[in-house]
Amino acid sequence: MFKDLESLRQTCLQCTECGLSDRRLNVVFGEGNPHSPLVLVGEGPGDQEDKSGRPFVGRSGQMLDRALADNGLSRDDVYICNTVKCRAADWSTGKPQNRPPTPEEVTTCRQWLIPQLGLIKPRVILCIGAPSAKNLIKKDFKITKERGQFFPSEFAPEAMAALHPSYIMRQQRPDNDGGYHLLVEDIGKAWKRCHS
Ligand code: URA
Ligand code: SF4
Repeated sequence: MFKDLESLRQTCLQCTECGLSDRRLNVVFGEGNPHSPLVLVGEGPGDQEDKSGRPFVGRSGQMLDRALADNGLSRDDVYICNTVKCRAADWSTGKPQNRPPTPEEVTTCRQWLIPQLGLIKPRVILCIGAPSAKNLIKKDFKITKERGQFFPSEFAPEAMAALHPSYIMRQQRPDNDGGYHLLVEDIGKAWKRCHS
């Protein structure tokens, strides 16, 4: 159907298949090294990502960049995309509040994510956060219990999940890194597996 990632991207940028298209500023398709053995799949764009059209550029993205750097990696070593390509937010009050995508939105957006993974053919998929793991590993995935473990995947030889930076930030206390060390560890483990 799609001969390469660029033609998939061009078509995806026009998508109005779910309600998230109504208020988005940009479709955030994904970026990085399309030849990387490791693809990171987050939840969906937030405010900064919606404004810039780029994945993981806000506060979560800064933490992700740091966790990659703590493994000697940069964004150019991996490919980064999301479960849904448009921002999910609650607009009922004056200012938009980010929310997780609904199961329907996740399912509708698989029409882009699955071919994207099919064209990149990563060795390992690292799901960042529970919605991504539920979408790509198994629907009853328990992130706090099952992160850091490899699972077989329909879309790559293996997949793993890591805690989402926004979850880590909510858990952080002066004497507790909120699980940041686990994010660093899981990225390192996934990268090492790609080269084993
Ligand atoms: N959180 C995500 O899951 N993805 C992004 O691109 C940004 C924040
Ligand atoms: Fe299309 Fe996905 Fe955006 Fe919905 S979230 S409009 S399915 S690209």
